[in-house]
Amino acid sequence: MSNKLEIINFYKKKINLLKKHNKLYFNNDNPIISDAAYDHLKKEIINLEEKNHFLKKLNLNSKTVGSFPSNKFKKIKHLKPMLSLSNAFNKNDMKDFVNKINNFLNIRDGKIEFSSEPKIDGISATLIYENGILTKGLSRGDGIVGEDILENLKTIEEIPKKLKGGNVPSLFEIRGEIYIGKKDFEKIRGDFANPRNAAGGSLRQKDPKETSKIPLKYFAYGFGAVEPMTFITQSEFLEKIKNWGFVINPLGKVVKNLNEIESQHSYIDSIRSSLDYDIDGLVYKVNDLKLQSRLGNTSNSPRWAIAYKFSAEKAVTKIKDIIIQVGRTGAITPVAKVQPVTVGGVVVSNATLHNEDEIKRKDIRIGDTVQIQRAGDVIPQVISVDSSKRNQNSKKYIFPEKCLCGAVTQKEINKSTKKKDAVRRCLKGYDCDFIAREKLKHIVSKDAFNIDGLGKKVIDQLWSLRLIRKPSDIFKINYNKIEKLEGWGELSINNLRKAIDKSKIIDLDRFIFSIGIRHIGQENAKILAGFFKSINKFCDLFSEKSRIKILENLIELDGIGQIQIDSINSFFLNNKNIEIVKKLIDKLKIKDFKIQNRKGKFSNKTIMFTGGFEKMSRSEAKSLVENNGGKVLGTISKKLDILVIGNSKPTKKKIENAKQLNIKTIKESDWYKLLDL
Ligand code: IVH
Repeated sequence: MSNKLEIINFYKKKINLLKKHNKLYFNNDNPIISDAAYDHLKKEIINLEEKNHFLKKLNLNSKTVGSFPSNKFKKIKHLKPMLSLSNAFNKNDMKDFVNKINNFLNIRDGKIEFSSEPKIDGISATLIYENGILTKGLSRGDGIVGEDILENLKTIEEIPKKLKGGNVPSLFEIRGEIYIGKKDFEKIRGDFANPRNAAGGSLRQKDPKETSKIPLKYFAYGFGAVEPMTFITQSEFLEKIKNWGFVINPLGKVVKNLNEIESQHSYIDSIRSSLDYDIDGLVYKVNDLKLQSRLGNTSNSPRWAIAYKFSAEKAVTKIKDIIIQVGRTGAITPVAKVQPVTVGGVVVSNATLHNEDEIKRKDIRIGDTVQIQRAGDVIPQVISVDSSKRNQNSKKYIFPEKCLCGAVTQKEINKSTKKKDAVRRCLKGYDCDFIAREKLKHIVSKDAFNIDGLGKKVIDQLWSLRLIRKPSDIFKINYNKIEKLEGWGELSINNLRKAIDKSKIIDLDRFIFSIGIRHIGQENAKILAGFFKSINKFCDLFSEKSRIKILENLIELDGIGQIQIDSINSFFLNNKNIEIVKKLIDKLKIKDFKIQNRKGKFSNKTIMFTGGFEKMSRSEAKSLVENNGGKVLGTISKKLDILVIGNSKPTKKKIENAKQLNIKTIKESDWYKLLDL
């Protein structure tokens, strides 16, 4: 290459390639080349620039981040899990949230205060201070295990390295959000779609010097482990940490009821565009920390907080086509392919139409002009049709009665409402290729086998090449074949191999969740794991005879109902399912279920409740038993240790049955004594 023009063209090609990979990584979350290949490309560009100074003047490379974000940070377990938040989208959702809290706590006057805080759209991080000195800094990771990004976090000016003032806790874990200001983002925008992606990329740089080039900022909003714990309310916590040197968001406010929640919401929404950082809603947290701890968590999110999102952004576009998608449970979802349109900063070209009835009700047709909306991370949806703009020749949309696999679909009768479901389903299970592929995506997902590097797109790729067809295939992938595919290199193959190997050791509850029995979510999978305890016992479900006995016993478990039992039965009535599960088990080491909190007050004890309590709801009573190592049963049997009789309308029959079986019964007042309340 001697000709200047040739060099420039070659250089531009490389820059465009780099931009493509940046975009794939940062904006699509789907890198297709390994770290090493990326670094190589980057080096090539730098070498070219060094040899040919005129290239630098083109100023093309200046806006791309230093290096491919790394996946190789040391993994460290969080002192306390970093949970996520459930969402509310309107007044009604907030009413439900407040009602649920009142019900759980069995409070009737409804006088609960909330701390309202902007929900910063950035990247969360947790900082650990030991005797006032910043010693650890972790990314969220999967919420249980984070990555050690301390050196990168230390480059952020607003993060105190040493706490100010005396009297700080000896152990202090603080949680907050890292973000890039909107104005700063404009200066470094480069190929990033939004400030959040840029902040994420910057935080994951291998070299902290690269992180320091980007103006990251920080707001503290919560705590993890604290010793000794002295805070009484969330709002007091925020005030206190301000004095210790943390930056807290200035728009926090304590609100007392639904009206105040609503007016704070509209106020912040009205000033939203004038703020220098992106927010996508407000977080409402029960202010009293004692109440927070009584409320506790469900498996993924606290009961005491919610993210109330701002109303969805809307746009008008045209439906080009309507296609159907098949989910892992066989549900058929119609999807509108629309003319691409930007909604809230994201280009949308697909929008869900929910189900057949919805299309009928709104008379949605191909070619229609429609309004679509997108709220937060929810799938965009078609909300209304502008029929005045409809072409006269347009025809009503006829919903296909067959699945993409060709099988006839059905609407089931809902067991509790006795009405026909709105959703059509393909009932072929693994015999339908479309369902089978979705089931694989579920199996590799975060809450199931959690295999890094084996995301939805990779499953699609490996599926279409017939490299993976059923779950057990994941554990006998022919890596030689993958290595030859575009987008794969030695490094990415090695990482994938490691991630797959690691996932072979799995907890029983995760395994049960992963195999995707309908109506068995994470919570139910835990309850079942507690019942079966080992994979060997679980395998008794394969034979019809033992299954019937097991299913009879399952009804005793609190949380497992007839719907779940029927679903487990029909899953194992299908021999193909049994075969698939067996083959999968052969590849794995499934750990026995360990009862947590063994040392609690109710270790190895089973409790049942009848009647209502004065001071707490049934849900709180249940979580108290579980947090103290016990199990709550739903029916009386010889296995029951204690029947707790609430003052309000206990069932006489249950008390009689318990007495007949010589089961210990205790009154409501004794229940409180037992709990030191
Ligand atoms: S509290 C137990 N407060 O939103 C949950 N989160 O979906 C604790 N976020 O991962 C979260 N601003 O990264 C909380 N004022 C705020 C927040 C906030 C932003 C993020 C955070 C979290 C996500 C939850």
